[in-house]
Amino acid sequence: MSLTRRQFTALPLGLALPAIDSAFAAETPSLAQAFGQRMRFGMAVRPDQIRDTALAAFIAHQCSILVAENAMKPASLSRGEGQYDFRDADLIVDFAAKNGMLMRGHTLVWHQQAAPWMFKDGAGEVSREKLIARMERYIADVVGHFRGRVYSWDVVNEAFQNGEGGAKTDEAGMRLSEWRRIIGPEFIEIAFRAAAKADPDALLFYNDYESQNPQKVEAVRKMVRGLRAKGVRIDGIGHQMHCARKWPRVDDVAAAIEAFGADGLKQHVTELDIGLNDMPTDTKLTAATDELLQDQARRYAELTTLFMSKRDKLGAMLTWGIGDAYSWYLSWPRKRFEAPLLFDTRLQPKPAFHAVLEAARAAT
Ligand code: XIL
Repeated sequence: MSLTRRQFTALPLGLALPAIDSAFAAETPSLAQAFGQRMRFGMAVRPDQIRDTALAAFIAHQCSILVAENAMKPASLSRGEGQYDFRDADLIVDFAAKNGMLMRGHTLVWHQQAAPWMFKDGAGEVSREKLIARMERYIADVVGHFRGRVYSWDVVNEAFQNGEGGAKTDEAGMRLSEWRRIIGPEFIEIAFRAAAKADPDALLFYNDYESQNPQKVEAVRKMVRGLRAKGVRIDGIGHQMHCARKWPRVDDVAAAIEAFGADGLKQHVTELDIGLNDMPTDTKLTAATDELLQDQARRYAELTTLFMSKRDKLGAMLTWGIGDAYSWYLSWPRKRFEAPLLFDTRLQPKPAFHAVLEAARAAT
């Protein structure tokens, strides 16, 4: 039976989870299988998807590594000091374990989706000393809770900026987040030390967007050298890779992987998507065309081929979402049309899926 004749409920985009029939999961070739064990394939998932039997089967069939899109961020886990709700996160982490998948932990220290209570003290702002204590306790509690079940943690996310939108940074290019502003640049070191203590066996990553930008590559490498000189463990770099059809250049991505690799850092592609618009923040398109989808597939193939060729340095490639109905690009930077993933709004494989599958098979 052709994949286009799968039974789906025809609901308008965004109103409900697309229902997929159970044969779907088993009949589509598995990317996890095509990638093999040396470089794993995975996706960012949401708790509701794991609760849906058909979607869960689809995810288990396609992935050998998972990350929670939002469920393991501080804003999702903690409503107050020492208060945690691990139910959604545990659901995903246990699902990964039960299906033999690795789990990435995303993320402990970020300027967005932080737990708002952390920065407040009564009516005012928290002191440096107290914020450090709160961060250390949060990391000890959360990493401790998942100890042995989370394979790698994005300890710090997006600490550097490239001056986008005229943003002000410190001399090192560091974003003037609440963490940076209240604690100082040492917030990174403190976070990595706390994570290493809480789970000595988990891999500790620094994760960022536009990680191929030469300016950012150098800023991050310098940060890593500084940490290591102080005996702080940092194992890897996460390349978010939120891309568009015309950005970034594959050569720049290759050079960044080489540069971090030369420092002996493990690397993951953590949040891959390739928008149909020319640039990630373009919002012009209102629909997909065959030509755009073919071009997107070529981009996916090119990047997959690059990543597979670097699998001595790169351990995983995860897409940021399971299919086009769920992409964050639909609401970022504003509400818009996009279709940046490998499966369409009804979870049917797109040309990009076939391109990635072929590129992976060709490399293994
Ligand atoms: C995004 C999620 O996809 C959205 O659902 C949420 O509203 C905002 O965060 N970089 C990251 C991810 O590290 O955590 C972000 O995820 C996308 C950009």
